[in-house]
Amino acid sequence: MKFEATKRQKDIYLQGFAGTKPVVPVRFDKLEAMAKQKMSKEAFAYIAGGAGLESTMENNRRGFDAYQIIPSMLQDVAKRDTSIQLFGYQLPAPILTAPIGVLELAHPGADIDVARAASGLGLPMIFSNQASFPMEKCAAQMGSSPRWFQLYWSKSDELTKSLLHRAADCGCSAIVLTLDTTMLGWRPRDLDLAYLPFLGGMGIAQYVSDPIFQEMIRDPAFLASITNEGGFSIRKLVNLIRLVNKFKGGSFFEKLRKKTPIAAVRKFTEIYSRPSITWKELAFLKKHSKLPILLKGILSAADAKQAIEYGMDGIIVSNHGGRQIAGAISAVKALKGVVAAVDGKIPVLMDSGIRDGSDIFKAIAIGAKAVCIGRPYAYGLAIAGEAGVREVLQNLMADFELTMGLCGCRTIKDIGPEKLTNP
Ligand SMILES: Cc1cc2nc3c(=O)[nH]c(=O)nc-3n(C[C@H](O)[C@H](O)[C@H](O)COP(=O)(O)O)c2cc1C
Repeated sequence: MKFEATKRQKDIYLQGFAGTKPVVPVRFDKLEAMAKQKMSKEAFAYIAGGAGLESTMENNRRGFDAYQIIPSMLQDVAKRDTSIQLFGYQLPAPILTAPIGVLELAHPGADIDVARAASGLGLPMIFSNQASFPMEKCAAQMGSSPRWFQLYWSKSDELTKSLLHRAADCGCSAIVLTLDTTMLGWRPRDLDLAYLPFLGGMGIAQYVSDPIFQEMIRDPAFLASITNEGGFSIRKLVNLIRLVNKFKGGSFFEKLRKKTPIAAVRKFTEIYSRPSITWKELAFLKKHSKLPILLKGILSAADAKQAIEYGMDGIIVSNHGGRQIAGAISAVKALKGVVAAVDGKIPVLMDSGIRDGSDIFKAIAIGAKAVCIGRPYAYGLAIAGEAGVREVLQNLMADFELTMGLCGCRTIKDIGPEKLTNP
């Protein structure tokens, strides 16, 4: 059934009349506050935090605030259509779920819950390279609904190839190469808690389910090289037991003897990213994948032009939600220059800081083809699993559709830069 904003709005009010308030808060600040209560302090810090003093996260919000909407009146907006065409699919709204790693921190249903919620609404999900469930398991939940795969370029070409092939095999219709995380940013919230989820075997499901990776961690020379770094402590023992229990296959002692869990984490930290990659290496991706390739993390017109020169099929303007560089340009501010540089040759998407329907409207008015939602859906997941993600996405769809109509726009094509002030 077609999603309708006014129905969503009416349902909420009618349920309120019958005494039921939304379980998942609609306001972003309340959503975040409730999610915080549901998570461990380490999990919340990992999801909510950013680089340095988190000034880029603030910039992302200020960037949106700098634009103001200029609506048009008397435009007959009784019927509204928020659908778009993107890489061969008709989407009900210009909204995708951004790739978010380690979603098990928020809820045990993690990526599986997101896959069900997004596909139930016909919105594409971008599977994270750092997912908590293998892409095949998520894809199996999604029927024919669109899904993309986000890649971090590993030090192993064989592993990269394998991930690309697996993505095509499980029905992904695009590859998103994230460029901004060749190393982890300096994240004080995580550093103060001395907490990195990957060390506990979280967020490495795409690796441990991969045949090439499995081969790598069985290599006797590699296994022999694993030593105990940093001495022993009770906490370390507890963490090791948790890590071993996370892995399937064999008894606890068998897994310990084979060193599989420890080997997987060590190998992952060794190879997950290749900071030496340059533009020239993009040819490798083109050679090994027939799918459209989008570059995520572009923030300058110069890089956008390079992306076109190197034959890329799309761009996601993003600063990774302010998690990588402190004091970086807001994604929405960067969007304008990128859109101008691309000049309609390939689709430009954006994320980082989108919190409500007016943000989506502004991004589209500046020239984005679609937006990716990040932290808001992770918070919905933390609060109520699949239903929580669905609530958040439906609220954003409704808010966007109403904003569009109230601004005098019947379709996405009616949303142009004349609807915004120039900051
Ligand atoms: C907890 C967390 C994990 C993330 N993991 C990934 C990832 O695995 N791959 C990726 O390309 N981006 C990742 N991102 C970045 C998101 O895709 C997106 O760019 C960001 O969340 C947008 O910012 P916002 O959430 O503030 O709107 C992650 C973001 C968060 C908050």
